[in-house]
Amino acid sequence: MSQDGLIARYRSFLPVTKETPALTLHEGNTPLIRAHRLSEEWGIDLRFKAEGFNPTGSFKDRGMVLAISKAAEAGSQAVICASTGNTSASAAAYAARMGMRSIVVIPDGHVALGKLSQAVVYGAEVLAVRGNFDQALEIVRDLAETHPVTLVNSVNPFRIEGQKTAAFEVCEQLGDAPDILAIPVGNAGNITAYWKGFREFQQAGRSRKLPRMCGFEAEGAAAIVRGKRVEQPETIATAIRIGNPASWKPALAAAEESKGMIGSVSDEEILEAYRDLTRKEGIFAEPASAALLAGVKQLRRAGRIPDQAQVVCVLTGNGLKDPATAMEAVPVKPKVLPCDREAVLEAIRERKEA
Ligand code: F0G
Repeated sequence: MSQDGLIARYRSFLPVTKETPALTLHEGNTPLIRAHRLSEEWGIDLRFKAEGFNPTGSFKDRGMVLAISKAAEAGSQAVICASTGNTSASAAAYAARMGMRSIVVIPDGHVALGKLSQAVVYGAEVLAVRGNFDQALEIVRDLAETHPVTLVNSVNPFRIEGQKTAAFEVCEQLGDAPDILAIPVGNAGNITAYWKGFREFQQAGRSRKLPRMCGFEAEGAAAIVRGKRVEQPETIATAIRIGNPASWKPALAAAEESKGMIGSVSDEEILEAYRDLTRKEGIFAEPASAALLAGVKQLRRAGRIPDQAQVVCVLTGNGLKDPATAMEAVPVKPKVLPCDREAVLEAIRERKEA
């Protein structure tokens, strides 16, 4: 089918030519899922853009399909990135598909297991440095300037171009832009991409309004909120454990121009939202994605979101990416029993009474 994948579907909005290879793993076209319980509980019209449905389980695939195909078009044979995990998984997959070499530099000990296993299995060369994401990004930026390897972090403009297509989809799925677009902020590329997408779609006459852009950082890594770089970022949401966001300025511009805001949420709030999402809505997203839901809850409680406002939350990554946090986040663990009908029945009764 000619419409498969983002590049084919949104060609007229993207910087592609006849020479750009037709690369796709069927990224994009992700569902917009209505929150039944939380919409009612909070008195707003809440929806989730479920980006965990992408081929490698995160929104990164939208930007990566374009970054890798443009790298190939330019004759590059290798790509490099720093990553908290999802970028590396996506780069590794698309590079494999394109027949290119991929090198990923990650902060040692701070990448969720699902993401690390993806990079390894897709055949990336994984280098874990004793440092954080910000330091790893500095290294790869420098190497890409001095060596024949293409940088595919979101400082590569093709990443932003690909990721803006999620805003197009949201407008198509709702018939217009929502009142509020809520999104987690790490390196700040995605909020930048969405804002670009909403403006371009409106300029093209494909949507009428523009949403307020509300971004959320983790409290222990809230550089934009604090107005200064965080030297040692810390949060349970390792995807956004970033202390010096590369797209800091465009992210601030998105929040200001749209009359939105950038806020922060604590790890406790993130975990509460993580459980709300799974138990009340049946949707499993990774902790960084839950951060924005914690943020929306905060804003609504503070009276900063009007009744029945339409709020779209970007659930950036699949919950399976981070099984360790999942197991730690719930107090009840699977119980091991003798293989016996009575023992199983007894355990069910006990659990019901507890
Ligand atoms: N959510 C998830 C699941 C992420 O993986 C990231 C970023 C973000 C949100 C934040 O997006 O950086 O555009 O503001 N992950 C990057 C990575 C940094 O290396 O995978 P952002």
